[in-house]
Amino acid sequence: STIPVIQELLDKMTLDEKIGQLNLLTPGGAVATGSVVSKDVETKIKAGQVGGLFGVSGPDKVRVAQELAVNNTRLKIPLLFGSDVIHGYKTTFPIPLGMSCSWDLDLIEKSARIAAVEATADGINWNFSPMVDIARDPRWGRIAEGAGEDPYLGSAIASAMVKGYQGTNLSEPNTMLSCVKHFALYGASQAGRDYHTVDMSKVKMFNQYLPPYKAAIDAGVASIMTSFNDVDGIPATGNKWLLTDLLRDSWGFKGFVVSDYTSLNEMIPHGLGNLQDVSALSLKAGLDMDMVGEGFLTTLKKSVEEGRVTEEEITQACRRILEAKYKLGLFDDPYRYLESNRPKKDILTQGHRQFAREVAARSFVLLKNHKSILPIKKNAKIALVGPLADSRNNMLGTWAPTGNPDLAVTVIEGFKKVAPNATISYAKGANITDDKELAKKVNVFGPRVVIDKRTPEAMIKEAVDAANSSDVVVAVVGEASEMSGESASRTDISISESQKKLIQALVATGKPVTLVLMSGRPLTIPEEYEMPVSVLQVWHSGVEAGNAIADVVFGNYNPSGKLTTTWPRNVGQIPIYHSIKNTGRPNPKEGYEKFKSNYLDMPNTPLFPFGYGLSYTTFEYSNLQLDKLEISAGETLNVTVTVKNTGNYDGEEIIQLYLSDVVRSITPPKRQLKGFKKVKLKKGERKEVTLTLTEEDLKFYNSDLDFVAELGEFVVYVGPNSDAELSGSFVLK
Ligand code: IFM
Repeated sequence: STIPVIQELLDKMTLDEKIGQLNLLTPGGAVATGSVVSKDVETKIKAGQVGGLFGVSGPDKVRVAQELAVNNTRLKIPLLFGSDVIHGYKTTFPIPLGMSCSWDLDLIEKSARIAAVEATADGINWNFSPMVDIARDPRWGRIAEGAGEDPYLGSAIASAMVKGYQGTNLSEPNTMLSCVKHFALYGASQAGRDYHTVDMSKVKMFNQYLPPYKAAIDAGVASIMTSFNDVDGIPATGNKWLLTDLLRDSWGFKGFVVSDYTSLNEMIPHGLGNLQDVSALSLKAGLDMDMVGEGFLTTLKKSVEEGRVTEEEITQACRRILEAKYKLGLFDDPYRYLESNRPKKDILTQGHRQFAREVAARSFVLLKNHKSILPIKKNAKIALVGPLADSRNNMLGTWAPTGNPDLAVTVIEGFKKVAPNATISYAKGANITDDKELAKKVNVFGPRVVIDKRTPEAMIKEAVDAANSSDVVVAVVGEASEMSGESASRTDISISESQKKLIQALVATGKPVTLVLMSGRPLTIPEEYEMPVSVLQVWHSGVEAGNAIADVVFGNYNPSGKLTTTWPRNVGQIPIYHSIKNTGRPNPKEGYEKFKSNYLDMPNTPLFPFGYGLSYTTFEYSNLQLDKLEISAGETLNVTVTVKNTGNYDGEEIIQLYLSDVVRSITPPKRQLKGFKKVKLKKGERKEVTLTLTEEDLKFYNSDLDFVAELGEFVVYVGPNSDAELSGSFVLK
């Protein structure tokens, strides 16, 4: 049932005016997010040929654009203003993959809320976030942008982010439309190469990849963006099964669907026809708005005239876009988001920055703490080395187009602030990479990789000298921020040669070495892991990076993050993830066995399992109890475990529950995450923690794609990561 004022408006609109609403343009700007930008934007707005803009921000600039639409078009329909606010607006939070490692839904929701407050203060009312693509291939650069490999956690995070952006009332001036993306399966791009083909069975789709999009929809997300890839041979942007049968008919989505940046036009090289063909196909499939491509704008009228699409199909798309504008309150006041005094009041406040610092610290994952090198004493003599130790341009991370790298805190600044009594000698030690060609490619948005004029030997010597005259060494190494993200896939995800040599030289000094590892993806670090070093994974952690890293290195905050992706030993193991299947020839042991499912040259196990992460303290799990041995449909099961802080620090632990369906009609994953709880435990404290399973948690999509729980035995595992050992079983009868 259409909103009456929208229906009245639609009744007045000409075909051209309706088609105009389906057009989303960007004039480009400092950081373009695609390879072309829109031309003659002003003229098109005045001609009623634009429904929304992105890449324009600030109340004054947005007002100018909004006035162009409102004052010059016959029906005065206001524009939507979009933006990619992926991990914070100007207060940049850690990359989403990092934030997911907090497993803290309240924290994530609050970060989205803050992002919305800041973005709306700058006139933006539509956010191209959350990105919820399940990613199991760390070669894919955009793994940085999502919540990792798991549909259960990914769904919870998707829902938290939508709530954070949209709040409870979209017409409040500090809430914005959220746009879940990229629908669908973009994270499964073949071989981790961006924009590549996706080919997947329906049961895998439904069980593993689709749940987070569905969760965003259940949380009320207002819009959805299609993906660049094909799904079952049809590009997502023109895929009727995806955009109508599944999204609308089966899931009941009521918002509007926007393409990705020129993904409509990209159906031409995909092999689906010319611009008119693919535009007609996409409209009929259920696409409502065309991002930058202008395929709708330039061909739909002709297609109506030729009977290839109907005016009713265009009206329907237009209606959905107008409804979104209505929900934002733009018809009451097109300038609702445009108060000139808001940016100063609401953006980059001390409170927001402080929160970003807390979020960052909670996103770090302690991968190894050799001889408890960490935390470091605040009065130590420290050699702070590595190409990322003093590298402001690499702190924010990928997909922070609205952030300002100049405002980021470097590691050296954080160290000096948090440990003013430490003696710090700094040396760069190595380039992020010595490969000039690679440097050129990743420097598109600014100097991320700066290749030093000195020889690698001279740089290493300086770092080794610093190490020799210090008590401890902290080496900040890894990837530049644009070495992950869009169009930043890599076939080799190990640490660069230049940094490897630095690490080896530092370890050879015999001083205690900590590697602070920055990256936008899991890296393959088996050699470094074997060395006598500690390893703290810090991702690219945003505007407060340096302060947060110092907080953790010096023990102001005890790390509690847990990986949300499995870390392979080498790229040959990819895809590797915790919910793999057993196969008919499982090899339960570490070693090789002939005629078992394994490799000659590598164990099946990863370097770090999903859910893994250490603390400065230790936790002991005991006494797993299930409150029932049998349950029936509709009943719940309480799983209780005792967790004790057995180490020397207060700490937080993320307790994880995995479920294994022993027998079912389609081959089950060995185990799947089905619950988690983050608890604080003081030194010596013990807590009984209960996690509850419902019948929903036992369900899966069977061969007929029915969502069912099948009777029989289930095994529950509870512990600190996906290798959790404590187990119990129950029967669904
Ligand atoms: O939102 C993004 C998307 O994730 C990738 N292509 C460009 C869009 C708009 O900037």
